[in-house]
Amino acid sequence: MKLAVIGTGYVGLVTGTCFAETGNDVICVDIDINKVNKLSNGQITIFEPGLEKIFLRNQKEGRLHFTTSIEEAIENAQVIFLALPTPPGEDGSADLSYILNVATVLGKLLKPDGYKVIIDKSTVPVGTSEKVKSAILLSAGSDISHAFDVVSNPEFLREGVAVEDFMKPDRVVIGTTSDKAIKIMNDLYAPFVRQGNPIIFMDEHSAELTKYAANAFLAVKITFMNEIAQLCERLGADVDMVRKGIGSDERIGKRFLFPGIGYGGSCFPKDVKALAKSSSEVNYDFKILKSVMEVNELQKLHLIPKIKAYFNNDLSGKHFAIWGLSFKPNTDDIREAPAFYMIDALLEMGATVSAFDPEAMANSKQVLGDKIKFADGQYDALENADALIIATEWNEFRTPDFERIEKSLKQKAIFDGRNLFDLQAMQNLGFHYESVGRSAIHA
Ligand SMILES: NC(=O)c1ccc[n+]([C@@H]2O[C@H](COP(=O)([O-])OP(=O)(O)OC[C@H]3O[C@@H](n4cnc5c(N)ncnc54)[C@H](O)[C@@H]3O)[C@@H](O)[C@H]2O)c1
Repeated sequence: MKLAVIGTGYVGLVTGTCFAETGNDVICVDIDINKVNKLSNGQITIFEPGLEKIFLRNQKEGRLHFTTSIEEAIENAQVIFLALPTPPGEDGSADLSYILNVATVLGKLLKPDGYKVIIDKSTVPVGTSEKVKSAILLSAGSDISHAFDVVSNPEFLREGVAVEDFMKPDRVVIGTTSDKAIKIMNDLYAPFVRQGNPIIFMDEHSAELTKYAANAFLAVKITFMNEIAQLCERLGADVDMVRKGIGSDERIGKRFLFPGIGYGGSCFPKDVKALAKSSSEVNYDFKILKSVMEVNELQKLHLIPKIKAYFNNDLSGKHFAIWGLSFKPNTDDIREAPAFYMIDALLEMGATVSAFDPEAMANSKQVLGDKIKFADGQYDALENADALIIATEWNEFRTPDFERIEKSLKQKAIFDGRNLFDLQAMQNLGFHYESVGRSAIHA
């Protein structure tokens, strides 16, 4: 099939590359000319494990192209994916301007004698598919209502394992009632569900809401565990034990039960906010979401009072090493990453920071400039630091050289927002060690 993907960010690039991998001809469009130039020259623009290899292979085979021209991209495409940003607007609702602007352009380009399926992959509020349809019809010069269908096909990939998630999805959700579109979507996704995972067809509204419900549910689950962690610290329980104790109950499940310093990323924060806003617009007060947002804001700074207390409430002139800047491991995405909230708080209190992240340094430098020092390696970050703070659970931080850490740090203190280390081991090593939902180890 011939496909166009409009928006070549995390979702668009993975979507385009993975559909090329199953033999489709794909053209990805972006307004960012630098991005398109890099991609056209075989340079991948995001870090996503496994993506580069299939990106290069499909580009070499001539199945994956990049352009800045929507016109060129959609000319022969039967299927058009919208993988555009839907950032939070000022009131928290999803900003649909990227999507609706492109819909307006599509209205001018679609021909009355053809048929194309326009698929919304962005996360959008209920009713967006109708808005996209109306915007297309409004800008079209003639009646083209029979020349396209708008389908909702929310994306559930996780950054860091996006290729695996896309190639072998737990499920594919498709919102449409058009028989023509159902057939095309079925053909398109058949290679991805050969092991029997379902393609679930439903109406557009249910598909749009499914995506928000999934992300909001996961945010609730993480936040619940973060609150249990708070209780553990106050009651002398160990959150790791509680996690294992409840996770072995099949109704609860083992995943998403790890407490930490709050959820971040480009999806959960904005999607929880947008769902709360959508709810209020239909006079429903979605109370649990409000609590989730409130708790998560506090959780991002969970380590700060512990650090302050250790340094007698005076951080001025103190220097901290931070390991991890991305919002989670295996990605270079720093959007809403908890590390940045901590850095702001530390700088505000007069401290300085050296940070290291295996993949997110370039993106972080763009945001932070010279506000902090960017170290060449995880151990370089420790130079002259008073203590180490762990913000992201990259695998390479899990079994570090503790002797090197001890030699470099001025104080033998680690504040761990991801519970990477065993408490007994830290006690034996003689570190001052504080984590989330577990007893503090005092050196
Ligand atoms: N990132 C994720 O893990 C993830 C997962 C599931 C769903 N989503 C949803 O997918 C959507 C896209 O997210 P993302 O993370 O890929 O965003 P992104 O910011 O990484 O990518 C969006 C891309 O669209 C481009 N763009 C903007 N306006 C354009 C236009 N008019 N024409 C062509 N390109 C244009 C931008 O330059 C950018 O490259 C969002 O709605 C997001 O909520 C994201």
